[in-house]
Amino acid sequence: MTLPLLRLENVDKVFVKKTMMGKKSYIHAVRGITLDIQRGEALGIVGESGCGKSTLASLIIRLETLTRGKIILDGTDVTSLKEKDLRPLRRFVQIVFQDPYSSLSPRMTVEEILTEPLKIMTKLSKAEMHAKVTALLELVGMNASCLDRYPHEFSGGQRQRISIARALTTEPEILILDEPTSALDVSVQAQVLNLLNDLRQKLHLTYIFISHNLAVVKYISDRTAVMYAGQIVELGPSEKIMLEPLHPYTRELIAALPAVGKKLKPLTKAADMTENVAQERGCPYQNRCPLVDLRCKSERPPLAQFEPGHFLACWGVTKS
Ligand SMILES: Nc1ncnc2c1ncn2[C@@H]1O[C@H](COP(=O)(O)OP(=O)(O)OP(=O)(O)O)[C@@H](O)[C@H]1O
Ligand code: SF4
Ligand SMILES: [Mg+2]
Repeated sequence: MTLPLLRLENVDKVFVKKTMMGKKSYIHAVRGITLDIQRGEALGIVGESGCGKSTLASLIIRLETLTRGKIILDGTDVTSLKEKDLRPLRRFVQIVFQDPYSSLSPRMTVEEILTEPLKIMTKLSKAEMHAKVTALLELVGMNASCLDRYPHEFSGGQRQRISIARALTTEPEILILDEPTSALDVSVQAQVLNLLNDLRQKLHLTYIFISHNLAVVKYISDRTAVMYAGQIVELGPSEKIMLEPLHPYTRELIAALPAVGKKLKPLTKAADMTENVAQERGCPYQNRCPLVDLRCKSERPPLAQFEPGHFLACWGVTKS
């Protein structure tokens, strides 16, 4: 068995908030996540707003510190690295955010945006940097004429291409894509998804692809992890998750998928993380589940292998 490129072991994140009255409230945003990601794999993470997807991404790139657990990157435990020692991690793992409007500085030209990480992380000369960013722009379907222009001069899809080029400047092994297409029109989404698939093949990248939309996740990912209230409730091959979902929540997500060409509507009730902290006992999905029974109210189901390669956290689905 080859060593995974990225291993998460029992990763937890609890945010502590102070209320107006000085009381503390706790949000258990990520709960006991254990996951291996192999080199070259594309893992999709899907779940509704507030389920902890971006928090998990922030923990992996150490923008947030873990409350519990371990993150092992290419065999090295990076859980407790100090800020000054994080540079290799930042080079190795890059992230592309949902909103290319706010993630690109409006006062910098495209060339400045793309060379900034190179100045920090490499010793390339000016000419080498220019050649590199020109090649990167071509790789994402743009050209050198864009270099001296500002982000506002581009469409949403073009800006997202620039964001992807920026993430690639440091030659990362892992790209975390946090809703990279959900701010874009449906037709532009497809172009950016195709670009991401091409780049993965060409550059042998490993993807963690985050989305609300299971259909989009399936298009990009080999395996899909379905998150609910901070934990993974189902994990398996993307095709299987889409065609033969087992967890009642995954089934709910699939039922909410829009018709082809339409945008995904939010589910009626977003997971209330504060409520889930109070509801430590039992399955986090119990209040919405059509299969709920007494055991679901008292014992939290662990993520366990249901069949080879397919994992499930549910008491109510049994093998027939
Ligand atoms: N810095 C923070 N401080 C306090 N609570 C936070 C913080 N960041 C996230 N949270 C809370 O943690 C939970 C998970 O948030 P997160 O942003 O990870 O969800 P998400 O799945 O990415 O949602 P979306 O799909 O809307 O982006 C939410 O309840 C959120 O309010
Ligand atoms: S454990 Fe129970 S409540 Fe939770 S998803 Fe399964 S059947 Fe539903
Ligand atoms: Mg998010």
